[in-house]
Amino acid sequence: MRTQVGIIGAGPAGLLLAHLLRLKGIESVVLESRSREEIEATIRAGVLEQGTVDLLNESGVGERMRREGMPHVGVILRFEGRSHRVHLSELTGGRSIMVYAQHEVIRDLVKARLDAGAPILFGVKDVSLLDLDTRQPKIRFHDAGSAVREIACDYVAGCDGFHGVSRPSIPSRLRREFTRVYPFGWFGILVEAPPATEELIYAYHDRGFALVSTRSPQIQRLYLQCNPNDAAAAWPDARVWEELHARLAGRDGFRLTEGRIFQKGVIAMRSFVVEPMQHGRLFLAGDAAHIVPPTGAKGLNLAAADVRVLARALTEFYACGRADLLERYSETALRRVWRAEHFSWWMTSMLHTFHDESPFHQRMQLSQLRYVAESRAAATMLAENYVGLPFEED
Ligand code: FAD
Ligand code: PHB
Repeated sequence: MRTQVGIIGAGPAGLLLAHLLRLKGIESVVLESRSREEIEATIRAGVLEQGTVDLLNESGVGERMRREGMPHVGVILRFEGRSHRVHLSELTGGRSIMVYAQHEVIRDLVKARLDAGAPILFGVKDVSLLDLDTRQPKIRFHDAGSAVREIACDYVAGCDGFHGVSRPSIPSRLRREFTRVYPFGWFGILVEAPPATEELIYAYHDRGFALVSTRSPQIQRLYLQCNPNDAAAAWPDARVWEELHARLAGRDGFRLTEGRIFQKGVIAMRSFVVEPMQHGRLFLAGDAAHIVPPTGAKGLNLAAADVRVLARALTEFYACGRADLLERYSETALRRVWRAEHFSWWMTSMLHTFHDESPFHQRMQLSQLRYVAESRAAATMLAENYVGLPFEED
């Protein structure tokens, strides 16, 4: 089998790349280790930046998002028992975010690809990358029926997430990795309840961070800072509600609406970047190359930004033989990656309780929060990063 671009992973990065390439007449094959049902049911991100929304709309897969997604023009910071609104649109010349779940984006992209008759091979195993530093790299794998197969390609896109095979295929002496692991995780739940708030609430509290997000008028998404080693069993429903009420309580009488909890899970928090994001004819995109803690809502958006750069570079290469954009892919992508890394680290550091830090640290956090709430300059810094900085064009 032969294709122009072999894509490992059908997450947001792999599926969006395949979609953008197809619109430019570039052929690709997507290989995914899980089933279609599994990838369409995995609960993850919820916030799309303005640039991600624009990219989905401009590339013709935004129809359901426009109908079912929820545009938000502000976000709430809550501390010392009070809410402070950051007016995202007013501070960024009209930009905003869209709350639309990652698995809905996945469903839209899978449908667009399969409707166009383009291939996604689900349930593949033992993927390995060969001859990456030659002109014809290969992908070897077991297909869903366990037969050994090989695809020869011009380029390979490693979009297989943090635990995939692509990043380790770059020899360790040729890559540098930057990591920070945080001493806490998030306990995430899905609840059948009406929204308690019109905008997302990021809450700072001595007992730990809490986040109130949404999925639909009937389903809410909530997170609590927890011990990273907690099992779901450590969080019976009564404890979840007690903590959420305590962390969100205030003088303004705000009260969360309880409902049936139908999904629970613990999420680890880390920052990670590999440099460079390319080796020979392999290009890494999304979580395969970098991880951010979810506090800045940046992971999916960075995956989309990477593949935007990569799709453009591949398009220029196939249209006019121009290779310089491909050669500079890592350098271009890493500028946005490090900005998002800093923002995500900053939001995480400002909003979580660090149990091993001194009271001095807590005073620093509160001072920073008050400054963001009171200063237009500081709030603008948060707002422009949260809605996503404009793309740099070459
Ligand atoms: P993935 O989504 O991990 O996709 C990789 C795919 O590759 C998977 O389908 C996997 O099965 C497949 N794969 C892995 N190994 C192989 C292999 N060897 N062979 C073939 N296939 C393979 N981001 C935001 O922007 N906004 C948010 O609000 C936000 N909230 C989040 C909340 C939570 C709780 C979590 C966990 C994450 C959140 N993120 C958020 C981050 C976001 O979900 C990720 O950054 C995003 O999924 C990255 O997409 P990806 O395509 O790079 O990787
Ligand atoms: C979500 O809705 O899942 C969500 C929202 C904001 C974040 C992270 C996750 O920062």
